Amino acid sequence: MSSAEQRINELREELNRHNHAYYVDNAPTISDYDYDMLMKELEKLESEHPELDDPLSPTHRVGSDITKGFQQVTHARPMLSLGNTYSIEEVDDWIKRCNDMLGNSSGLKSVPIVGEMKFDGTSISLIYEKGRLVRAVTRGDGEKGDDVTENVKTIRSIPLVLSGEGYPESFEIRGEIVLPWRAFDKLNEERAFNEEPLFANPRNAAAGTLKLQNSAEVSRRGLDAYFYYLLADELPCQTHYDNMVKAREWGFKVSSQMTLMDSIDEVDSFIRRLDIERKELPVATDGLVFKVNDLRQQLNLGFTSKSPRWAIAYKFAAERALTRLRFVSFEVGRMGIITPVANLEPVLLSGTIVKRASLHNEDIVKSLDIHEHDMLYVEKGGEIIPKITGVDVDAREQGSSPIKFVTTCPDCGTKLIRIPGEASWQCPNKYGCRHQIIGRLEHFVGRHAMDIEGVGEENAALLFDAGLVKNIADFYTLKAPELEMLERVGPRTAARILEGVEASKSVPFDRVVYSLSIPFVGETVARKLARGVKNMDTLMAMTREQLVAIDDIGPKIADAIIEYFSVSSNREIIDCMRDAGVQMALPEEDESNRTDLLSGKTIVISGVFSRHSREEYKMMIENNGGKNSGSISKKTNFVLAGDNMGPSKLEKARSLGVPIINEDEFLAMLG
Ligand code: IVH
Repeated sequence: MSSAEQRINELREELNRHNHAYYVDNAPTISDYDYDMLMKELEKLESEHPELDDPLSPTHRVGSDITKGFQQVTHARPMLSLGNTYSIEEVDDWIKRCNDMLGNSSGLKSVPIVGEMKFDGTSISLIYEKGRLVRAVTRGDGEKGDDVTENVKTIRSIPLVLSGEGYPESFEIRGEIVLPWRAFDKLNEERAFNEEPLFANPRNAAAGTLKLQNSAEVSRRGLDAYFYYLLADELPCQTHYDNMVKAREWGFKVSSQMTLMDSIDEVDSFIRRLDIERKELPVATDGLVFKVNDLRQQLNLGFTSKSPRWAIAYKFAAERALTRLRFVSFEVGRMGIITPVANLEPVLLSGTIVKRASLHNEDIVKSLDIHEHDMLYVEKGGEIIPKITGVDVDAREQGSSPIKFVTTCPDCGTKLIRIPGEASWQCPNKYGCRHQIIGRLEHFVGRHAMDIEGVGEENAALLFDAGLVKNIADFYTLKAPELEMLERVGPRTAARILEGVEASKSVPFDRVVYSLSIPFVGETVARKLARGVKNMDTLMAMTREQLVAIDDIGPKIADAIIEYFSVSSNREIIDCMRDAGVQMALPEEDESNRTDLLSGKTIVISGVFSRHSREEYKMMIENNGGKNSGSISKKTNFVLAGDNMGPSKLEKARSLGVPIINEDEFLAMLG
């Protein structure tokens, strides 16, 4: 063996060891820097000796950009599902059934049972030959699935080459691919930033990620995997538990909650303990799985057509609590929409105290048939937002009447109107209703609007009630002494508010348009309007026809804009803001920067950029005669992509054959 070959082998082994310590044991044995140095050394040696390349070398974990479809592979043994139980009693019954069928009559002692977590991800089957990963296949329809080997190879906690010894020459191991909570949250944050649809839960995110066509993106998202089932013609041990311990030695991540038990009592306390412990786990779980430990006993119990008789799943109940309704409040938003809210006797749910839950609209209140002081079931949908899911009708007080939706505004008493075609009621008193005004003031100072630091939600109401700020223009006449007279406002807060007001005068025109709270004019529409009209005077003078001629402005938005500027007080507000120095136009354009290099081209921007901001790129596209569009279609000429381009956009671009260029290429294009 040459010295290069020897060193390559050493490095591969060493890196695999560190990988395992880091990703499986959560106990790094080397600094990131030293790890990178070893990796670099291996990369260099491998590139100098292409004849020694190995597709399973740790250097191949990085993933490639090559796009390919997935091949269908038939499972050697079908991938079955598990029977479900939802209560301790059902689990106990299953244990008794197993004992009966196996002829165990020793009373208190059960045949040995293994309990483990039920990981909530997507199942995977891995095939190893001579200790090396050869194939990874999804469950598919149970008979055949997709070959996702390239993607699976990027999952750092999956051993590509096994360590230890005693593994069968050829075997299959099944497990669950999961996206840990932290990676899930990060992914959704990025998707929100890119205005892409969010994943509802880590299971969907894991399944979606595993099927991506771009293994580099898979690698980046941070999947993980836990293993729970070993299959081979000849297994090393005669029990499930011992086989899993072996798998752990070979490098697989096996749930540390795995527990061997031999009585119903132990199983029951295991369920109670894990239902609490699971909340601390880094990954989502939706229950527990119980398995008969002895493989001969498993064989005796056999399978039904759908699932093994020797295993059963116990599903955790969705976190639900029962609590009394104190009253329903009706809350007015800045656009006048009335939202009914259930105010509850405080109750503990998934670790937080719940006192309020939105009932959304009249239709939902009616369909739940909620009566005054009812006992309500509260669940945490997606574990975040509490939701009322039902009423305990048996606990209803005699003679209590159904909740009636208000007919007049709870704030200003104006008769409500129902928006045609929608489930919401609205207070039409736009300019006189305190809640709507305060809502608009809060919106105005918000981070995405004028970003006036120092005025939070509470302060907006305080300023309004003190008569200092009656409309958004009044922020520009505030003085320190009058602010300091307010309760809770000292010289420092006053100074901060005034600084924030001053700084808001340089907020760009599109955000000024957004800050006005014109119905249907969100951030994107405001930007389009600002670009389309260039200044406030033009916007105020536009006809319906002129407005709908602007990209993406429909009749509904056009009507709302016209209605807004038809109100004289709104025009006065704009005048005051103009006098105060607020931006009422896009900046004067430097004509020398204008070209028609991109004339007729439709361009989609996606991802995070380093040389210019997204906004600047949008401006450049428009200054050079191009059109910026939000979604990829056949009409898209190219995608300007930064880092972390949204995967759905990437797939769409690829499938339509739309070229993707990076920022350097784009800048070069503009010379
Ligand atoms: S054993 C033949 N053990 O749950 C039995 N499955 O509902 C093979 N799952 O398709 C499955 N954690 O995707 C087993 N500890 C665990 C599990 C587990 C999650 C998933 C798996 C399976 C599904 C069945």
